[in-house]
Amino acid sequence: MKTRVLFLSVGVLISLTGCGQKGPSTSAQPETTASASATQGGGRTIEITANDQMKFNITSITAKPGEELRVVLSNTGTIPKEAMGHNWVLLKSGVDPLAFGAAAAGARETDYVPQNLKDQVIAVIGLLGPKQKGEVSFKAPEQPGDYPFVCTFPGHAALMKGVLTVK
Ligand code: CO
Repeated sequence: MKTRVLFLSVGVLISLTGCGQKGPSTSAQPETTASASATQGGGRTIEITANDQMKFNITSITAKPGEELRVVLSNTGTIPKEAMGHNWVLLKSGVDPLAFGAAAAGARETDYVPQNLKDQVIAVIGLLGPKQKGEVSFKAPEQPGDYPFVCTFPGHAALMKGVLTVK
């Protein structure tokens, strides 16, 4: 009898722990446009995934001028960081993401964000390996327009890019 009670207690503990965990999401997300989610302190949260197929699941974000945003990037892949790392770099309006990506190839020491081009950058989530997650909070620009974002890991910019539209 006593053994059985103990066993049940352990079972309850395990399920409680399981509920509290925030494991990697495996659900498919067909949408490519970010939608608003609960605002919590750091502003509206936009969750983006990056994978081994060199794809961001979200390529279009819309924000109001000056809106507080929190972007969370999850690398859902399994390939090692040295071969398939992902970052998220939001660029100023008018900056060519492909040119920036090409220039970034030589900046491995700084997670492929060239320090001499920092004035073209609005926000950065540093390079992530498989199953890693990073985030950045920032204010959307006040100036309406299109602001490109890109992964600057060598060879990724052509496939891994999108646009933050401020309007
Ligand atoms: Co990438």
